[in-house]
Amino acid sequence: MTAIAAGLARQFQIYRAGMGGARPGLPLDADALEVRAEATMSPEAFAYVAGGAGRESTVAANRAAFEAHRIVPRMARDVSARDLSVELFGRTLPHPFLTAPIGVLSLCHPEADLAVAQASAAHGWTTIISNQASRPMEAIAEAAGDGSRWFQLYWGRSDELVLSLARRAKACGCEAIVVTLDTTLLGWRVRDLQLGHLPFLAGQGIAQYTSDPVFRALLPQPPEENPLAAALLFTQVYSDPSLTWEKMKRLRQAVDLPILVKGVQSPEDAALAVEHGFDGVVVSNHGGRQVDGAVGALHQLPLCADRVEGRIPLLFDSGLRSGADAFKALALGATAVCVGRPYAFGLALDGQSGVESVMSSFEAELELTLALSGHSRIRDLDRSALAPTRPPPGSHSSRG
Ligand code: GLV
Repeated sequence: MTAIAAGLARQFQIYRAGMGGARPGLPLDADALEVRAEATMSPEAFAYVAGGAGRESTVAANRAAFEAHRIVPRMARDVSARDLSVELFGRTLPHPFLTAPIGVLSLCHPEADLAVAQASAAHGWTTIISNQASRPMEAIAEAAGDGSRWFQLYWGRSDELVLSLARRAKACGCEAIVVTLDTTLLGWRVRDLQLGHLPFLAGQGIAQYTSDPVFRALLPQPPEENPLAAALLFTQVYSDPSLTWEKMKRLRQAVDLPILVKGVQSPEDAALAVEHGFDGVVVSNHGGRQVDGAVGALHQLPLCADRVEGRIPLLFDSGLRSGADAFKALALGATAVCVGRPYAFGLALDGQSGVESVMSSFEAELELTLALSGHSRIRDLDRSALAPTRPPPGSHSSRG
């Protein structure tokens, strides 16, 4: 399936409605969307979604990295047929978009992850179910129906629990597991700290745990009877700073699914992912939520691509705010990209249809950017679509 001319359709639908005086319900610009969401969300909810680590210089660096890469449009190359599809793990995705895993979406909307799964299924996006989702993965998978889904996994202190989560993911139709490596400890999140707010302690965003038989067996009473004990146990087991590449081998033996690692920023780690038999890498700095001062993630994408040399696919997240941004990441070596905060703000403002509005805009702008830059197929993009640029000082580019 290909998405032909959907971009034009979206564009003209908006202009046609405008002839009758109607304006799009949600801001189309990601920054304006965030401002609108802030006005409706609680301070705690907004801080959790919008916030980054420390002084948020990495959040800014992620955006600066997108600004540093510029497209060089080519002309007169017959772009009348456009194909946004990509191949990933033996499947053809109609669009190169996934929804990044975002925890505690109940802070945004009561339908939370269910609304995102339904929107993704309707648009042919793959949804990455969060380890910190507000609903158990089985319920989210049911909401996704035939829609493509993956599961994001945090490696916790109990291997049995980790493997149980992974097996459940396979059982409910997830097609890949994404192990997030960058959150073996929670970053220094100043906005959340200032509000003294950690949703997990209030029992929010721990649905994968309270629905898990291994987790439940570790509790003195069922979480329904003693939610505080469940929240406290979660804080003890959810992450494991002693994680190593070696340790993760157990996952490969336990589940027969493609396994990606997420949070890779150094080309050395991308090479280690290949060496250890992982099936894909998500180049990401967790949207700047973990290490303040980390390099803008997009700068690391071509460096990782050079190191991996096409042996496994690279995906990208961190800082994407438009379809044109997606184009840049795809040209720099990503097979597909994950969108994060913008869909969460769409969700906060208008539930499933808010998510769909964000998705439609990303799709439309990507298609138009592809065509207006002189390309017909996403899968043919490479760095020649961009002006040459040099990574900022301090980027890790050694091939050693
Ligand atoms: C972890 O899931 C986070 O809050 O980024």
